Amino acid sequence: MSAYSEQLDRLQNHRYRWLVTGVAGFIGSNLLEMLLAYGQDVVGLDNFETGHRHNLDEVARSVPAAWQDAFTFIEGDIRDLETCRKACKDIDFVLHQAAIGSVPRSIDDPITTNQANIDGFLNMLVAARDAGVRRFVYAASSSTYGDSPGLPKVENEIGNPLSPYAVTKYVNELYADVFSRAYGFDSIGLRYFNIFGKRQDPEGAYAAVIPKWVARILAGKTVHIYGDGETTRDFCFIDNAVQANILAAMTENPAALNQVYNVAVNAQTSLNELFDMIQSRIRSREPGIPELRPQYRDFRAGDVRHSRADITKAKQLLGYEPTHTIDQGLDEAIDWYIENLRSTEALSPVA
Ligand SMILES: NC(=O)c1ccc[n+]([C@@H]2O[C@H](COP(=O)([O-])OP(=O)(O)OC[C@H]3O[C@@H](n4cnc5c(N)ncnc54)[C@H](O)[C@@H]3O)[C@@H](O)[C@H]2O)c1
Repeated sequence: MSAYSEQLDRLQNHRYRWLVTGVAGFIGSNLLEMLLAYGQDVVGLDNFETGHRHNLDEVARSVPAAWQDAFTFIEGDIRDLETCRKACKDIDFVLHQAAIGSVPRSIDDPITTNQANIDGFLNMLVAARDAGVRRFVYAASSSTYGDSPGLPKVENEIGNPLSPYAVTKYVNELYADVFSRAYGFDSIGLRYFNIFGKRQDPEGAYAAVIPKWVARILAGKTVHIYGDGETTRDFCFIDNAVQANILAAMTENPAALNQVYNVAVNAQTSLNELFDMIQSRIRSREPGIPELRPQYRDFRAGDVRHSRADITKAKQLLGYEPTHTIDQGLDEAIDWYIENLRSTEALSPVA
């Protein structure tokens, strides 16, 4: 039996109380949906900075029975300590996702990113520590590898940060580590690589590459690639990230605590390959959509050139076993986008 199956059995037999911050966002809403489906009690905190009510509405439709009974939503800001204290009351496990998650946005506006990602993070750590939660799991980031040239990325070899966002995510790790030393407060950081899947926002100037390209191709709009398209990423489907959160929250392996883990699949896909993978899937589902070539633009400041994760540590200490490759994840994600973007402006043809 896999470590994940064992923890899912535990969930089925016991109703814990979880706090998911950033619950109206992409990863947070997927965590919420999974936890409610397993009969858990969930408090969700979000200020709708980049998250959406429609994400919560969709989860409500997928788990209608649990929605009224087991979910409590707090509209609030992690920059406010009292809000964090209220959210942490009587919580067993914290899954802290709330942050401003965009590298380019942090370059345009480092102060707002710093306030949410460092001040807000510290508020959450203090509130969770004082509330005596069992475990604090937080969203770290592959951007922490910065300019380190080595591949695959191994947790203990990082370089210099390349963006204000990367600084904030590294500071999160430093604070979590010092809370373990100074207060004996246990946490686990998950260095997400490029997570993708349903409900990742295709809209806005700072949208992530997969939803943005899917929406543009569906709308017959040209896709822009920053650089020569040979930049690589370790794209990781959302179900793998959800699994990592559950394992991190519930592990009883003392050696697994107060560590950071890569959350990825250990595969490397170039942006040119990604474009072909997305376009061919969309055109096989929607044959009327024209075949387009991408347009290339300058490299973007702050972007890491190549990325692929070594996931040995998460496998060994947490029992992490990714269930989805990029191909399997894209199949599911693109089906969802076609279904959910169908009625929106994104599907209308553009001259
Ligand atoms: N998606 C990825 O590939 C990826 C990669 C590395 C790290 N991460 C991290 O994972 C976490 C979740 O990312 P996501 O992709 O779901 O992004 P998202 O933008 O969809 O979700 C973030 C959520 O946090 C909320 N939020 C932001 N500031 C807040 C504040 N001050 N108070 C309360 N809520 C606030 C937003 O409204 C949003 O709902 C973030 O911490 C991000 O930095 C994501």
